[in-house]
Amino acid sequence: MPKKQKEKKKFVPRKNKEQKPKKKEAEGAVVEKGKRAHNILRGMHDILPREEKYWKTMFHVAENLAAYFQYGRIETPVMEEAGLFVRSLGKGTDVVEKEMYVFENQDGSKICLRPEATASVVRAYINAGMFNYPQPVKMWYWGPMFRHDRPQAGRYREFRQVGYEIIGAADPAMDAELILVAYNFYKDLGLPVEIRVNSIGLPEERERYKAELANYYRAKKSYICEDCRKRLLKNPLRLLDCKEDQCQPIKDEAPQIVDWLSETSKNYFMKVLEYLDALGIPYILQPTLVRGLDYYTHTVFEIYPVIEAEEGAAKETAQSALGGGGRYDLLMEEMGGRPTPAAGVALGIDRSVAVLKQYGEKHPINLLKPEYDIYFAQLGERAKGRALKMIEDLRQSGLRIGFNFYKNSLKTQLELANDLKVPCALILGQKEVQEGTIIIRDMESGIQEIVDQKKAENIVKKKLEKI
Ligand code: HAM
Repeated sequence: MPKKQKEKKKFVPRKNKEQKPKKKEAEGAVVEKGKRAHNILRGMHDILPREEKYWKTMFHVAENLAAYFQYGRIETPVMEEAGLFVRSLGKGTDVVEKEMYVFENQDGSKICLRPEATASVVRAYINAGMFNYPQPVKMWYWGPMFRHDRPQAGRYREFRQVGYEIIGAADPAMDAELILVAYNFYKDLGLPVEIRVNSIGLPEERERYKAELANYYRAKKSYICEDCRKRLLKNPLRLLDCKEDQCQPIKDEAPQIVDWLSETSKNYFMKVLEYLDALGIPYILQPTLVRGLDYYTHTVFEIYPVIEAEEGAAKETAQSALGGGGRYDLLMEEMGGRPTPAAGVALGIDRSVAVLKQYGEKHPINLLKPEYDIYFAQLGERAKGRALKMIEDLRQSGLRIGFNFYKNSLKTQLELANDLKVPCALILGQKEVQEGTIIIRDMESGIQEIVDQKKAENIVKKKLEKI
């Protein structure tokens, strides 16, 4: 009998195209068979509970610095008139030209999600008549910004910034103070950074420089990248932002803006540098640093993370800036307010968290102290009932207690206590409930003692004092 041929598997086209997942679901995502889960928008990201410690630490450091340097918190809306940013950041800038989320409002006017907050702070200063306050007015903010940028590592469409602005003082000491605040932010987090500074003087000085730069680049037009050819026509200063390899040697030889500054502008910049020297803040002079927004005058600066390389190898500086800022003496007038000098800095928190995590793997980082003082473990139904009341009483007395009523095994609960890094745990079993006692366990040594339930609070507090 001829051997039955193995039946070839027929190709059956997928009937329901909808069922085919369009994109690979996020790692670890649990999606029920046949269903499609919604994906987060491109360039946006969730901040998950396991990352909260980093965000909380950053906020804590930012808030403490603001209090120490006397900046008042300002919160401006996430949505503003689109014209606010076109007018302040400049029409030809990447942020305005390509990256703004602009919508039509019900009344037909153009509104947008803010791409940054300096313009909003200046608007608020004018709207609230803050020129009547004692000057300068120092403000800080923390919140989300939106830029429809091409997403890549460290570049998001929604990202958060902390910013510090000083409005109403034209003093180089203010520029230095802002650099100090930014420097201290990373110092307090234990992250090594590099500060790069430059001066771009006043618009008329810059115009003369731009003409010279354009002349220089025109002669080298056939050697520069496509983008730079466009920049040459539209906004020659942006030529200095180019990261393409082929343009680097040309950029290195380009005329430097500092040579086009007036004596007054040069002196102003020298003063800022003197203050930085006096503060002992290391900085690098970067003649090609011009920043991507049009409102700057005089001092501009950026902060970069320094990545510790393997032993013996040179330290590396990452490509993307953690923060940036500078002076913007003409912006207030440009926005319809009375002439008022100002300066500020904004730090990208998403990028800073990414670096903190990466760096933190190798180095002990200054995260906020554990949030719990003790852990409360319970064993059995009766103990659970009593534990609820005891935990509430202890919480009222000011102790921060970790617990988990869904876990019944002692081993698991002690593992959770370990994760929370608490120095001691309270353990309540059936026997202890009956006897009115409770076990206090030293988490490091494992030594346990049985104490009266009524005395537990005092004993624990005394133990915590000694730590
Ligand atoms: P900026 O340089 O455009 O300046 O942004 C400051 C920081 O925000 C950047 O260094 C970066 O860390 C972060 N950032 C910017 N875009 C993105 C993005 N797409 N994804 C993730 N992070 C990003 C300003 O915004 C000015 N308002 C700074 C300032 C304040 N100047 C004076 N006062």
